[in-house]
Amino acid sequence: MISEAATARTMAVEGPVAPIDARLRVPGDKSISHRAAMLGGIAEGTTRIRNFLPATDCLATLEVMRGLGVEVEYSSDEVLVHGRGMEGLVEPARPLECGGSGTTMRLMSGLLAGQPFYSILAGNAQLSRRPMDRVARPLREMGATILGREGGRLAPLTIQGGNLKGISYRPPVASAQIKSAVVLAGLFAEGETAVEEIAPTRDHTERMLMSMGADLIVEGSTVRVRPSRLKAIDVDVPGDISSAAFILAAAAIVPGSRVVVEGVGLNSGRTGFLHALERMGAVVRLHNEHESNGEPVADVEVAYRELKGIAISAEDVPGMIDELPMLAVVATQAEGMTEVRGAAELRVKETDRIATTAAELTRMGADIEPLPDGFRLHGSTTLSGAQVSSHGDHRLAMSLSIAALVAKGATTVEDTECVDDSFPGFEAALRTLIGGGSNGE
Ligand code: S3P
Repeated sequence: MISEAATARTMAVEGPVAPIDARLRVPGDKSISHRAAMLGGIAEGTTRIRNFLPATDCLATLEVMRGLGVEVEYSSDEVLVHGRGMEGLVEPARPLECGGSGTTMRLMSGLLAGQPFYSILAGNAQLSRRPMDRVARPLREMGATILGREGGRLAPLTIQGGNLKGISYRPPVASAQIKSAVVLAGLFAEGETAVEEIAPTRDHTERMLMSMGADLIVEGSTVRVRPSRLKAIDVDVPGDISSAAFILAAAAIVPGSRVVVEGVGLNSGRTGFLHALERMGAVVRLHNEHESNGEPVADVEVAYRELKGIAISAEDVPGMIDELPMLAVVATQAEGMTEVRGAAELRVKETDRIATTAAELTRMGADIEPLPDGFRLHGSTTLSGAQVSSHGDHRLAMSLSIAALVAKGATTVEDTECVDDSFPGFEAALRTLIGGGSNGE
């Protein structure tokens, strides 16, 4: 049973639930929706985006593009972004509000570094605590003036861009956001800009830029980009694997279950969670594999089988960075130890996800020990229903709701409005899981 309170949103689940048999769709991919809106705004012509993710994070990106003079037509069927070309953005009259969206602020920093005008990127309290020097540093090296609080480390960021020179940069952490920010600035910089990754991360920016005709090549772990003109394209956004992960995890932990999530994007930088489920013993199958806009897509099936603990190390982390709170929940139902290392990045996400995940799962009875760069968890455990909090973190809210499906008794997850940051309709999807059937997304 699941219910929602009328005021501050909460989710209440009474577990354990019966075996799940469901077939669903999840909303569009967050990373691809952001990029389609941004790149569409600097392309020539109209970019038509189907299945754009109507989440608060992506809506913030659309508003930021509007603030830069881009005309955006929004409907539930499609989003039309009328591109202004590479020299067409205009100086915004007011600060550009990114809400809680790190992707918006970091990628837009790169794009704005290339513009010969002054702009301010602002965020909510949560985003204003997250490190921005990771993008500001290379962009300053390219020639942009970027100021922020605490010596330029924190938002709001003020950016005076233009007159950039290409650089060769090796980000100290594996981050698609840093890579993308430098690549976007590189579109406006003199000469070549090269970004060499220490570990592969999602490459949506590179794929979309290539589809739009950018002068960009990928050589091993290095992306090379030169000033380019972009052509508008039609973008069909696949389902977000990071949202599908919650649904698939439910099937992996509720004995006797099976779910299929249709039309999920399977970018090679995003499939780590599926590999982890498989290594833990779950049945994972792909159906109807095809390509859409240069991105691999498939229907993903997961069926329950007894699980065992696994070790996740630094090289596995970028491919499942957003799914690690969910993995912790799965690990509570796996026999033996699961250890995640090399994931210190979790500490600078929407919350310190090592601390918040460990604290909340401990309330439900999990045996989880936070580590500086990950966590160690011993399973399997019969979780107990409890009152837990999302701490305003969408991924934690959804992970805890899935944990509640196997917990004994009533669980209330507090502060769940944040699920709208990435997965509007999550409560309805959860109801479908519990009630069976399809959500007709
Ligand atoms: C994202 C990259 C990841 C991820 C975030 C979205 C992107 O962040 O956590 O949710 O769209 O590029 P990092 O690149 O900082 O790890």
